[in-house]
Amino acid sequence: MQQFNYPTTIFFGEGAIERLASVIGKRGNKHLLLVTDATLVGLGVAEDVAGTLRGSGAQVTVFDHVHPNPIEDDVQLGTAAYKKNGCDAIVALGGGSPIDVAKVIKFLSTHDGPLAQYEDRLGGDALIVNPMPPVYAIPTTAGTGSEVGRSSVVTLAATQKKTIFFAPQLMPDIAVLAPELTVGLPAHITAATGIDAFTHCLEAWLAPGFHPMADGIAQEGIKICLDCLPRCVEDGTDLDARGKMLMAATMGATAFQKGLGMIHSLAHPLSAHFGLHHGLTNALLLPASIEFLEKSDLSDEQRARLAEIQRLFQICGLAGDSLSASCRQWFEKLGIVFGLAQHGIPEGRLDFLAEEAFDDPCHGSNMIPVSRDDLLATYRAAL
Ligand SMILES: [Fe+2]
Repeated sequence: MQQFNYPTTIFFGEGAIERLASVIGKRGNKHLLLVTDATLVGLGVAEDVAGTLRGSGAQVTVFDHVHPNPIEDDVQLGTAAYKKNGCDAIVALGGGSPIDVAKVIKFLSTHDGPLAQYEDRLGGDALIVNPMPPVYAIPTTAGTGSEVGRSSVVTLAATQKKTIFFAPQLMPDIAVLAPELTVGLPAHITAATGIDAFTHCLEAWLAPGFHPMADGIAQEGIKICLDCLPRCVEDGTDLDARGKMLMAATMGATAFQKGLGMIHSLAHPLSAHFGLHHGLTNALLLPASIEFLEKSDLSDEQRARLAEIQRLFQICGLAGDSLSASCRQWFEKLGIVFGLAQHGIPEGRLDFLAEEAFDDPCHGSNMIPVSRDDLLATYRAAL
């Protein structure tokens, strides 16, 4: 068991949840709201973790009303449960969704509604000023890296849009990376979530701007994904590879403080309007987006950025003729079936989706600026 503090305090490895319980005991938290989802309750994982956390002396209330793509109702009900039970700390257990919901419950527990006024794009972070309870995050998937992130994405009831809430205070106080919690993930979810981690590292690496620290973390994260994601997909019980992928996911979210890019802008509307898994949507759009960059008028430095990642594919024996081809072939080996149409996206909706993607802020830090037509062309190429 090691402890890292970059930038969040991270407990990594066997015994990490016991360590969290001990810290909660020392801090004197009396009543924890354990935010999780129905699947983890069904598998008995939530009760196992709750049992360990009760060792701290605190009471634990389990709240599992969390949708795979969180909606406003989830955070409102969660906040009501937090207040009704007199909680004083939040533990998030699950993929990105319970962690995102926990972050919003954190600020809604001491800030009045409506939720919409806290939207990042409207400058809502300036309204997040009151003292708030701690959030301890225990990811059960290796993908979003939400456990070290400062933002949360929830679909608002009024607009039906994925809406970003962002404030440094939303970063969990402690992230607990326990590889044994991820061994039960089915191969296709392992692949999709791992590709999300890979996409975070890649988009951060390609984002413009001087940020050598983020670049270093992103590059190392990509190396870990190339080495360990296939191992996790092949043998879900490979604890070494599972642990390293948890770390790669954490690294991806650390690195993307530098920025994301067009892949995430293209991916978001597919989850919001068609309910597709976030990692899968990244996988479907990534090769076409990289191909768009390869065909664009890039500087030598930008070309070198693409070439460096292709070099990492070569080292692993996974390289195709170009970086876009390498990614596509690698994703196919991981079980991704390409073609938006194969996943229920009708061609007739692409104009609407391109409008939504252009509206999404992530492409603001794309390697090169993209227009609405560029995004539409990329959807067409991925159809
Ligand atoms: Fe993502």
